[in-house]
Amino acid sequence: MLEELIEKFGEKFGVLENIKTYFSPGRVNLIGEHTDYNGGFVFPCALDFGTYAVARKREDKLFRMYSKNFENLGIIEFNLDNLTYDKKDDWANYPKGVIKTFLDKGYVIDRGMDILFFGNIPNGAGLSSSASIEVLVAVILKDLFKLSIDMVEMVKYCQIAENKFIGVNSGIMDQFAVGMGKKDHAILLDCNTLTYEYVPIKLEDMSIVIANTNKKRGLTDSKYNERRASCEAAVAQLNKNNIDIKYLGELSVAKFEEVKHFIKDEEQLKRANHAVRENERTKLAVEVLKAGDIESFGKLMNDSHISLRDDYEVTGLELDSLVEAAWNEEGTLGSRMTGAGFGGCTVSIVRNKNLKTFIANVGKKYKEKTGLEASFYVANVGAGADILK
Ligand code: GLA
Repeated sequence: MLEELIEKFGEKFGVLENIKTYFSPGRVNLIGEHTDYNGGFVFPCALDFGTYAVARKREDKLFRMYSKNFENLGIIEFNLDNLTYDKKDDWANYPKGVIKTFLDKGYVIDRGMDILFFGNIPNGAGLSSSASIEVLVAVILKDLFKLSIDMVEMVKYCQIAENKFIGVNSGIMDQFAVGMGKKDHAILLDCNTLTYEYVPIKLEDMSIVIANTNKKRGLTDSKYNERRASCEAAVAQLNKNNIDIKYLGELSVAKFEEVKHFIKDEEQLKRANHAVRENERTKLAVEVLKAGDIESFGKLMNDSHISLRDDYEVTGLELDSLVEAAWNEEGTLGSRMTGAGFGGCTVSIVRNKNLKTFIANVGKKYKEKTGLEASFYVANVGAGADILK
Protein backbone atom coordinates (compact mmCIF):
# COMPACT_ATOMS: atom_id res chain seq x y z
CA MET A 1 0.00 0.00 0.00
CA LEU A 2 2.87 2.38 0.83
CA GLU A 3 4.20 2.04 -2.72
CA GLU A 4 0.84 3.15 -4.05
CA LEU A 5 0.78 6.16 -1.71
CA ILE A 6 4.29 7.16 -2.73
CA GLU A 7 3.31 6.94 -6.37
CA LYS A 8 0.28 9.13 -5.68
CA PHE A 9 2.50 11.62 -3.84
CA GLY A 10 4.66 11.86 -6.97
CA GLU A 11 1.59 12.39 -9.12
CA LYS A 12 0.26 15.18 -6.89
CA PHE A 13 3.43 16.95 -5.76
CA GLY A 14 5.91 16.17 -8.53
CA VAL A 15 9.16 15.50 -6.76
CA LEU A 16 9.88 12.22 -4.95
CA GLU A 17 13.11 13.30 -3.27
CA ASN A 18 13.51 13.44 0.50
CA ILE A 19 10.18 11.86 1.26
CA LYS A 20 9.44 9.90 4.41
CA THR A 21 6.49 7.75 5.43
CA TYR A 22 4.57 7.62 8.71
CA PHE A 23 1.70 5.77 10.36
CA SER A 24 -0.66 6.66 13.19
CA PRO A 25 -3.34 4.27 14.49
CA GLY A 26 -7.00 4.66 15.40
CA ARG A 27 -8.09 3.64 18.88
CA VAL A 28 -10.86 1.79 20.59
CA ASN A 29 -11.76 2.37 24.22
CA LEU A 30 -12.50 -0.86 26.09
CA ILE A 31 -14.00 0.82 29.16
CA GLY A 32 -13.94 4.21 30.92
CA GLU A 33 -16.18 6.38 28.77
CA HIS A 34 -16.64 10.11 29.32
CA THR A 35 -14.31 9.85 32.27
CA ASP A 36 -11.22 11.48 30.73
CA TYR A 37 -12.34 15.10 31.02
CA ASN A 38 -13.73 14.20 34.46
CA GLY A 39 -10.21 13.48 35.68
CA GLY A 40 -10.85 9.74 35.79
CA PHE A 41 -9.46 6.53 34.32
CA VAL A 42 -9.77 5.26 30.75
CA PHE A 43 -8.68 1.95 29.24
CA PRO A 44 -8.18 2.32 25.48
CA CYS A 45 -5.89 0.56 23.01
CA ALA A 46 -4.46 1.50 19.64
CA LEU A 47 -5.66 -0.42 16.58
CA ASP A 48 -3.70 -1.85 13.70
CA PHE A 49 -5.51 0.39 11.23
CA GLY A 50 -5.15 4.14 11.07
CA THR A 51 -3.71 6.95 8.97
CA TYR A 52 -0.66 6.83 6.68
CA ALA A 53 1.30 9.81 5.42
CA VAL A 54 3.99 10.52 2.87
CA ALA A 55 5.69 13.84 3.65
CA ARG A 56 8.55 16.11 2.77
CA LYS A 57 9.76 19.52 3.81
CA ARG A 58 9.54 22.36 1.30
CA GLU A 59 11.93 25.25 0.70
CA ASP A 60 9.21 27.92 1.07
CA LYS A 61 6.45 28.55 3.62
CA LEU A 62 3.67 26.77 1.78
CA PHE A 63 1.80 23.74 3.10
CA ARG A 64 0.15 21.51 0.52
CA MET A 65 -2.02 18.68 1.79
CA TYR A 66 -3.82 15.97 -0.10
CA SER A 67 -6.01 13.18 1.26
CA LYS A 68 -6.77 10.05 -0.71
CA ASN A 69 -9.94 9.86 1.38
CA PHE A 70 -11.21 13.20 0.10
CA GLU A 71 -9.92 13.29 -3.45
CA ASN A 72 -12.77 15.57 -4.50
CA LEU A 73 -11.31 18.32 -2.29
CA GLY A 74 -8.03 18.24 -4.22
CA ILE A 75 -4.83 19.76 -2.83
CA ILE A 76 -5.51 22.07 0.12
CA GLU A 77 -2.96 24.86 0.50
CA PHE A 78 -2.16 27.21 3.36
CA ASN A 79 0.77 29.35 4.42
CA LEU A 80 2.94 29.28 7.51
CA ASP A 81 2.22 32.99 8.01
CA ASN A 82 -1.54 32.47 8.12
CA LEU A 83 -2.50 29.50 10.23
CA THR A 84 -6.12 30.30 11.02
CA TYR A 85 -9.14 28.00 11.06
CA ASP A 86 -10.85 28.09 7.70
CA LYS A 87 -14.02 26.09 7.08
CA LYS A 88 -13.22 25.63 3.43
CA ASP A 89 -9.95 23.88 4.33
CA ASP A 90 -12.12 21.09 5.75
CA TRP A 91 -10.05 18.15 7.12
CA ALA A 92 -6.79 20.09 6.61
CA ASN A 93 -7.73 22.19 9.65
CA TYR A 94 -6.50 19.27 11.77
CA PRO A 95 -2.89 19.40 10.50
CA LYS A 96 -3.08 23.19 10.49
CA GLY A 97 -4.18 23.26 14.13
CA VAL A 98 -1.31 21.01 15.19
CA ILE A 99 1.28 23.10 13.32
CA LYS A 100 -0.15 26.28 14.87
CA THR A 101 -0.04 24.78 18.37
CA PHE A 102 3.62 23.74 17.98
CA LEU A 103 4.48 27.27 16.82
CA ASP A 104 2.57 28.81 19.73
CA LYS A 105 4.59 26.62 22.09
CA GLY A 106 7.80 28.05 20.67
CA TYR A 107 8.96 25.20 18.42
CA VAL A 108 10.75 26.31 15.28
CA ILE A 109 8.90 25.35 12.14
CA ASP A 110 10.26 27.67 9.50
CA ARG A 111 9.17 26.00 6.28
CA GLY A 112 6.17 24.37 4.68
CA MET A 113 5.57 20.72 3.76
CA ASP A 114 3.85 18.57 1.17
CA ILE A 115 1.89 15.76 2.79
CA LEU A 116 -0.26 13.04 1.32
CA PHE A 117 -2.63 11.26 3.73
CA PHE A 118 -4.57 8.05 3.52
CA GLY A 119 -6.63 6.62 6.36
CA ASN A 120 -8.42 3.31 6.69
CA ILE A 121 -10.31 4.26 9.86
CA PRO A 122 -13.97 4.86 9.06
CA ASN A 123 -14.43 8.65 9.51
CA GLY A 124 -16.72 9.87 12.25
CA ALA A 125 -17.11 6.33 13.64
CA GLY A 126 -15.73 7.13 17.08
CA LEU A 127 -12.42 5.38 16.40
CA SER A 128 -10.44 8.64 16.57
CA SER A 129 -9.70 9.38 12.95
CA SER A 130 -9.13 13.01 14.00
CA ALA A 131 -6.72 12.23 16.85
CA SER A 132 -4.94 9.85 14.48
CA ILE A 133 -4.25 12.58 11.93
CA GLU A 134 -3.29 15.08 14.67
CA VAL A 135 -0.70 12.82 16.27
CA LEU A 136 0.54 11.79 12.81
CA VAL A 137 1.25 15.44 11.98
CA ALA A 138 3.02 15.87 15.34
CA VAL A 139 5.29 12.90 14.55
CA ILE A 140 6.04 14.36 11.10
CA LEU A 141 6.86 17.78 12.59
CA LYS A 142 9.16 16.25 15.20
CA ASP A 143 10.97 14.21 12.56
CA LEU A 144 11.29 16.70 9.69
CA PHE A 145 12.09 19.72 11.87
CA LYS A 146 14.24 17.72 14.32
CA LEU A 147 12.29 18.91 17.33
CA SER A 148 13.27 17.84 20.79
CA ILE A 149 9.94 16.81 22.30
CA ASP A 150 8.56 13.60 23.77
CA MET A 151 5.34 11.79 22.85
CA VAL A 152 3.36 12.76 25.95
CA GLU A 153 4.04 16.44 25.26
CA MET A 154 3.00 15.98 21.63
CA VAL A 155 -0.18 14.25 22.77
CA LYS A 156 -0.99 17.27 24.96
CA TYR A 157 -0.43 19.66 22.06
CA CYS A 158 -2.70 17.62 19.83
CA GLN A 159 -5.43 17.86 22.46
CA ILE A 160 -4.92 21.64 22.57
CA ALA A 161 -5.27 21.74 18.77
CA GLU A 162 -8.54 19.79 19.02
CA ASN A 163 -9.89 21.99 21.87
CA LYS A 164 -8.74 25.43 20.78
CA PHE A 165 -8.41 25.21 17.01
CA ILE A 166 -11.13 22.74 16.08
CA GLY A 167 -13.40 23.71 18.98
CA VAL A 168 -14.24 20.28 20.41
CA ASN A 169 -13.73 20.24 24.14
CA SER A 170 -12.48 16.64 24.19
CA GLY A 171 -10.37 15.01 26.89
CA ILE A 172 -6.93 13.51 26.35
CA MET A 173 -7.82 9.86 25.87
CA ASP A 174 -7.82 9.67 22.09
CA GLN A 175 -4.56 11.45 21.43
CA PHE A 176 -2.91 9.54 24.27
CA ALA A 177 -4.02 6.13 23.01
CA VAL A 178 -2.97 6.97 19.45
CA GLY A 179 0.42 8.33 20.48
CA MET A 180 1.32 5.98 23.32
CA GLY A 181 -0.31 2.72 22.14
CA LYS A 182 1.63 -0.53 22.47
CA LYS A 183 1.10 -3.73 20.50
CA ASP A 184 -1.10 -6.26 22.32
CA HIS A 185 -1.57 -3.93 25.31
CA ALA A 186 -4.29 -1.58 26.47
CA ILE A 187 -3.40 1.55 28.46
CA LEU A 188 -4.82 2.24 31.89
CA LEU A 189 -4.49 6.02 31.98
CA ASP A 190 -5.22 8.29 34.90
CA CYS A 191 -6.35 11.36 32.99
CA ASN A 192 -5.84 13.62 35.98
CA THR A 193 -2.14 12.88 36.51
CA LEU A 194 -1.32 11.26 33.13
CA THR A 195 0.27 8.33 34.92
CA TYR A 196 -0.32 5.18 32.91
CA GLU A 197 0.23 1.48 32.86
CA TYR A 198 0.32 -0.97 29.94
CA VAL A 199 -1.88 -4.01 30.54
CA PRO A 200 -1.44 -7.05 28.27
CA ILE A 201 -4.52 -7.99 26.27
CA LYS A 202 -4.31 -11.77 25.95
CA LEU A 203 -7.69 -12.89 24.75
CA GLU A 204 -6.62 -16.32 23.48
CA ASP A 205 -9.83 -17.89 22.18
CA MET A 206 -11.67 -14.54 22.05
CA SER A 207 -11.55 -11.42 19.90
CA ILE A 208 -12.34 -7.75 20.16
CA VAL A 209 -15.07 -6.99 17.65
CA ILE A 210 -15.85 -3.43 16.63
CA ALA A 211 -19.24 -2.84 15.04
CA ASN A 212 -20.00 0.42 13.27
CA THR A 213 -23.61 1.67 13.39
CA ASN A 214 -22.90 3.62 10.19
CA LYS A 215 -25.16 6.31 11.58
CA LYS A 216 -24.23 9.82 10.53
CA ARG A 217 -23.33 11.66 13.70
CA GLY A 218 -24.82 15.13 13.17
CA LEU A 219 -24.78 17.31 16.27
CA THR A 220 -22.27 15.22 18.21
CA ASP A 221 -19.81 18.00 19.00
CA SER A 222 -22.31 20.32 20.65
CA LYS A 223 -23.90 17.46 22.63
CA TYR A 224 -20.44 16.35 23.71
CA ASN A 225 -19.62 19.85 24.95
CA GLU A 226 -22.99 19.93 26.79
CA ARG A 227 -22.17 16.72 28.69
CA ARG A 228 -18.86 18.15 29.74
CA ALA A 229 -20.51 21.38 30.88
CA SER A 230 -23.05 19.42 33.00
CA CYS A 231 -20.25 17.61 34.81
CA GLU A 232 -18.44 20.89 35.44
CA ALA A 233 -21.66 22.40 36.79
CA ALA A 234 -22.03 19.42 39.15
CA VAL A 235 -18.49 20.00 40.42
CA ALA A 236 -19.31 23.69 40.93
CA GLN A 237 -22.35 22.73 43.04
CA LEU A 238 -20.19 20.47 45.20
CA ASN A 239 -17.52 23.16 45.53
CA LYS A 240 -20.15 25.61 46.73
CA ASN A 241 -20.90 23.17 49.53
CA ASN A 242 -17.29 22.88 50.57
CA ILE A 243 -16.52 19.66 48.75
CA ASP A 244 -13.12 20.59 47.51
CA ILE A 245 -12.59 18.73 44.25
CA LYS A 246 -11.51 19.73 40.78
CA TYR A 247 -12.96 16.69 39.01
CA LEU A 248 -15.73 14.16 39.62
CA GLY A 249 -13.06 11.50 39.14
CA GLU A 250 -11.72 12.37 42.57
CA LEU A 251 -14.83 10.97 44.26
CA SER A 252 -15.28 7.32 45.19
CA VAL A 253 -18.81 5.97 44.78
CA ALA A 254 -19.17 5.92 48.57
CA LYS A 255 -18.14 9.57 48.91
CA PHE A 256 -20.42 10.53 46.03
CA GLU A 257 -23.39 8.88 47.74
CA GLU A 258 -22.68 11.04 50.80
CA VAL A 259 -22.55 14.34 48.95
CA LYS A 260 -24.73 13.91 45.88
CA HIS A 261 -27.73 15.64 47.53
CA PHE A 262 -25.87 18.92 46.97
CA ILE A 263 -26.41 18.51 43.22
CA LYS A 264 -29.96 19.77 42.84
CA ASP A 265 -30.28 19.64 39.08
CA GLU A 266 -31.55 16.19 38.08
CA GLU A 267 -29.74 16.08 34.79
CA GLN A 268 -26.41 17.08 36.33
CA LEU A 269 -26.94 14.45 39.00
CA LYS A 270 -27.40 11.72 36.39
CA ARG A 271 -24.32 12.82 34.47
CA ALA A 272 -22.24 12.90 37.65
CA ASN A 273 -23.57 9.51 38.71
CA HIS A 274 -22.25 8.02 35.48
CA ALA A 275 -18.89 9.76 35.68
CA VAL A 276 -18.19 8.60 39.24
CA ARG A 277 -19.41 5.01 38.78
CA GLU A 278 -17.77 4.55 35.39
CA ASN A 279 -14.49 5.62 36.89
CA GLU A 280 -14.71 3.02 39.65
CA ARG A 281 -15.92 0.42 37.16
CA THR A 282 -12.86 1.04 35.00
CA LYS A 283 -10.45 0.45 37.86
CA LEU A 284 -12.29 -2.72 38.80
CA ALA A 285 -12.42 -3.91 35.19
CA VAL A 286 -8.65 -3.69 34.89
CA GLU A 287 -8.21 -5.58 38.15
CA VAL A 288 -10.39 -8.47 37.01
CA LEU A 289 -8.73 -8.51 33.61
CA LYS A 290 -5.30 -8.76 35.22
CA ALA A 291 -6.62 -11.69 37.23
CA GLY A 292 -7.63 -13.35 33.95
CA ASP A 293 -11.36 -13.03 34.63
CA ILE A 294 -12.64 -11.92 31.24
CA GLU A 295 -16.21 -12.92 32.12
CA SER A 296 -16.32 -10.26 34.85
CA PHE A 297 -14.60 -7.78 32.56
CA GLY A 298 -17.38 -8.38 30.01
CA LYS A 299 -20.10 -7.83 32.60
CA LEU A 300 -18.54 -4.50 33.56
CA MET A 301 -18.55 -3.53 29.88
CA ASN A 302 -22.30 -4.25 29.83
CA ASP A 303 -22.83 -2.14 32.97
CA SER A 304 -20.87 0.66 31.35
CA HIS A 305 -23.25 0.65 28.39
CA ILE A 306 -26.33 0.73 30.62
CA SER A 307 -24.94 3.71 32.51
CA LEU A 308 -24.09 5.53 29.27
CA ARG A 309 -27.60 4.77 28.02
CA ASP A 310 -29.60 5.69 31.11
CA ASP A 311 -27.54 8.26 33.03
CA TYR A 312 -25.25 9.84 30.47
CA GLU A 313 -27.76 9.50 27.62
CA VAL A 314 -25.26 9.29 24.80
CA THR A 315 -26.39 6.07 23.09
CA GLY A 316 -29.58 6.15 20.99
CA LEU A 317 -31.50 3.57 18.98
CA GLU A 318 -28.60 2.49 16.78
CA LEU A 319 -25.99 1.87 19.49
CA ASP A 320 -28.58 0.30 21.81
CA SER A 321 -29.84 -2.04 19.08
CA LEU A 322 -26.33 -3.22 18.20
CA VAL A 323 -25.41 -3.77 21.85
CA GLU A 324 -28.66 -5.54 22.74
CA ALA A 325 -28.30 -7.86 19.76
CA ALA A 326 -24.72 -8.61 20.87
CA TRP A 327 -25.80 -9.30 24.46
CA ASN A 328 -28.25 -11.93 23.17
CA GLU A 329 -25.68 -13.81 21.10
CA GLU A 330 -23.99 -16.95 22.34
CA GLY A 331 -20.28 -16.36 22.85
CA THR A 332 -20.54 -12.64 23.74
CA LEU A 333 -18.68 -11.84 26.97
CA GLY A 334 -19.48 -8.14 26.93
CA SER A 335 -20.61 -5.37 24.62
CA ARG A 336 -20.88 -1.59 24.90
CA MET A 337 -20.74 1.63 22.94
CA THR A 338 -17.26 3.11 22.57
CA GLY A 339 -16.07 6.69 22.06
CA ALA A 340 -18.23 9.77 22.38
CA GLY A 341 -21.49 8.01 21.46
CA PHE A 342 -24.58 9.30 19.59
CA GLY A 343 -23.65 6.91 16.78
CA GLY A 344 -20.25 5.54 15.93
CA CYS A 345 -19.17 2.11 17.11
CA THR A 346 -19.68 -0.57 19.70
CA VAL A 347 -16.96 -2.83 21.08
CA SER A 348 -17.61 -6.44 22.06
CA ILE A 349 -15.59 -9.36 23.31
CA VAL A 350 -16.66 -12.51 21.50
CA ARG A 351 -15.50 -16.13 21.55
CA ASN A 352 -13.73 -16.99 18.30
CA LYS A 353 -15.88 -20.04 17.74
CA ASN A 354 -18.98 -17.83 17.71
CA LEU A 355 -17.56 -14.98 15.62
CA LYS A 356 -19.23 -15.88 12.33
CA THR A 357 -22.71 -16.29 13.75
CA PHE A 358 -22.19 -13.20 15.94
CA ILE A 359 -21.53 -11.03 12.90
CA ALA A 360 -24.35 -12.57 10.86
CA ASN A 361 -26.99 -12.44 13.60
CA VAL A 362 -26.13 -9.06 15.10
CA GLY A 363 -25.99 -7.54 11.61
CA LYS A 364 -29.38 -9.03 10.73
CA LYS A 365 -31.14 -7.93 13.92
CA TYR A 366 -29.61 -4.46 13.66
CA LYS A 367 -30.88 -4.06 10.11
CA GLU A 368 -34.36 -5.20 11.12
CA LYS A 369 -34.50 -2.61 13.89
CA THR A 370 -32.87 0.38 12.23
CA GLY A 371 -32.85 -0.23 8.49
CA LEU A 372 -29.09 0.35 8.54
CA GLU A 373 -26.28 -1.97 7.55
CA ALA A 374 -23.63 -2.38 10.30
CA SER A 375 -19.95 -3.04 9.48
CA PHE A 376 -17.80 -5.33 11.61
CA TYR A 377 -14.04 -5.36 12.21
CA VAL A 378 -12.15 -7.93 14.22
CA ALA A 379 -9.61 -5.65 15.86
CA ASN A 380 -5.93 -6.24 16.50
CA VAL A 381 -4.24 -4.13 19.14
CA GLY A 382 -1.45 -2.20 17.46
CA ALA A 383 1.34 0.21 18.37
CA GLY A 384 1.32 4.01 18.63
CA ALA A 385 2.17 6.54 15.92
CA ASP A 386 5.66 6.33 14.41
CA ILE A 387 7.97 6.87 11.47
CA LEU A 388 7.78 4.05 8.92
CA LYS A 389 10.79 4.82 6.74
C1 GLA B 1 -14.37 11.32 22.54
C2 GLA B 1 -13.37 12.29 23.11
C3 GLA B 1 -12.57 11.66 24.26
C4 GLA B 1 -13.51 11.02 25.28
C5 GLA B 1 -14.56 10.15 24.60
C6 GLA B 1 -15.60 9.65 25.57
O1 GLA B 1 -13.71 10.25 21.93
O2 GLA B 1 -12.48 12.74 22.11
O3 GLA B 1 -11.74 12.62 24.84
O4 GLA B 1 -14.11 11.99 26.08
O5 GLA B 1 -15.23 10.83 23.55
O6 GLA B 1 -15.04 8.78 26.48
